[in-house]
Amino acid sequence: MTTEFEAVERARDEALARVGGAVTFAELATVETEVLGRRSVIVEMRKALGGLDAQARRSVGQLLNAAMSAVGDAVVLRRSAIEAVERAGQLEAERLDLTEFSPQRRRGHLHPFTAAWERLEDVFVGMGFQVAEGPEIETEWFNFGALNFPAGHPARESQDSLWVDWGEPGHTLLRTHTSPVQVRTMLAQEPPIYVVCPGRVFRQDTPDATHMPVFHQIEGLVIDRGISVGDLAGTLDSFVKAFFGGEFSSRLRPSYFPFTEPSAEFDVRRPDGSWLELGGCGMVHPNVLRAGGIDPEQWSGFAFGFGIDRFALTRHGVEDLREFWSGDVRFLSQF
Ligand code: DAH
Repeated sequence: MTTEFEAVERARDEALARVGGAVTFAELATVETEVLGRRSVIVEMRKALGGLDAQARRSVGQLLNAAMSAVGDAVVLRRSAIEAVERAGQLEAERLDLTEFSPQRRRGHLHPFTAAWERLEDVFVGMGFQVAEGPEIETEWFNFGALNFPAGHPARESQDSLWVDWGEPGHTLLRTHTSPVQVRTMLAQEPPIYVVCPGRVFRQDTPDATHMPVFHQIEGLVIDRGISVGDLAGTLDSFVKAFFGGEFSSRLRPSYFPFTEPSAEFDVRRPDGSWLELGGCGMVHPNVLRAGGIDPEQWSGFAFGFGIDRFALTRHGVEDLREFWSGDVRFLSQF
């Protein structure tokens, strides 16, 4: 019987060694058939049990069963080990080095529009303004109605607006200016209010050297007690000096906007005496204050708004606005 025991143990150890030596799934499958399959030594031994006496059959049988399950367990373990190795290999093979960079490549920088936007914000924040933002998709009421555009005003219906097919026809549009953020701010906070509202605005314009259907504006709004046109002119002049430099100054020219009364255009005087038209401004119309939930008897204020993109244009001496939108790195990397 000792010889039978030894034979079983030898068969088991040999099988375990072969299982342990299998490196691929295919090898393991072959080894598995060879050591546990119908023609394997262990199974042959089981078939031969019938030739033993009852006691030997039982004890050798038990040993054979234990050997089979040990080898079976070893196969399962080996399979998951091979799986782990294969997966690691696959990961390594498919790895993408996203940190790769070529050391001579220059670092990127902000787009000139973004740089102008951020500088404007910085200057106004330095003057005590907060920054407010509003949605680019607006309702007709915020974009026009609350800003005192009379019903039927050409700006409402004009080709300029990009209407959005959502809700009632003529209800939703891409904002045509940043002025709706004035009203949103008044409704959201109590005066005194000192905010600037930079943002993207949209008009149905054919792109040319000085127009794009998407552009950027910055709006200013001040609401406090006893605010006068003098405060408006003084604030704009301080801004011009802080932004452009002490040798620059500004002037107001009478104009018309539905949301301000009186209204003005403001121009910047360059040191060489030439003028740059910057934007519009005025004292906030009482109807606009009321739309914003503010009592015009107690509070007054001024507003102004101007385009940001042309700053980048003039600052960098670029002739054509469209260049800034080209996304051409060779162009943009100059700035
Ligand atoms: N919203 C005007 C525009 O897009 C610009 C503007 C003019 C804004 C006068 C103002 C303002 O706040 O007071 O043309």
